[in-house]
Amino acid sequence: MIIAANLKTNLTRKQTTDYVAELESYLKTNNITQEVLVFPATSSLNPHAGDVIIGAQNAYATQNGAFTGEIGLDHLNEFEIKTILIGHSERRHVLGETQEELVKKFNFYKDLGFKIIYCIGEPLEKREAGKEEMMKYISAQYEGIDTSYENLIIAYEPVWAIGTGFTPTLEDIEAIHTDLKEKSTAPLLYGGSVKVTNAKEVLALQNVDGILVGSAALYAEHFCTMIQYAQDLQK
Ligand code: 13P
Repeated sequence: MIIAANLKTNLTRKQTTDYVAELESYLKTNNITQEVLVFPATSSLNPHAGDVIIGAQNAYATQNGAFTGEIGLDHLNEFEIKTILIGHSERRHVLGETQEELVKKFNFYKDLGFKIIYCIGEPLEKREAGKEEMMKYISAQYEGIDTSYENLIIAYEPVWAIGTGFTPTLEDIEAIHTDLKEKSTAPLLYGGSVKVTNAKEVLALQNVDGILVGSAALYAEHFCTMIQYAQDLQK
């Protein structure tokens, strides 16, 4: 399974180094065979050799150039990063990235063979508008995206479940994952208020191939517990 930590705007470079070292040690000591990904803040990226895959939370669709505040391929290459998160709800809704911009970014990093974790998910008003409206909204997030890209992982993260402590019911997660699997056979992660207390049940669901964890992953010990759940499930 795929167990991913999105550290967002948390953990300094020193804290991230210690965090990743703790994960590496856990993976080795416990013979973990799961795919473990960590997305540090951009300024906390470091060269890394080990089993944990380090990815970028964001980068611009460029090698380099005049894009103030952004980083490009040159900066990812410096740390040998070949994994990127695209379409996270905070980038769509807080930073205002449009589907068109995301498609451009997707194609740029796809052409370079990057592993792409592409995030989708609906805001609360779309969920409350009924299944048809909700699926229409989510389907639009697939527009322009090559859903058969071999290095694609999709993360379903309902916007209203991110950082709120609310999650869909297990039945709802399973139902939507089943629908989403019809759009793409890529591995499909669930994200949104996954914690030590609910990760085991979520991971056990059919059509859930892993989890993308935010706040609860900031504690290496908690994240390792979730990794262990996945290992024990032997899915
Ligand atoms: P939380 O786990 O804090 O809800 O965040 C989920 C998320 O956005 C992961 O990308």
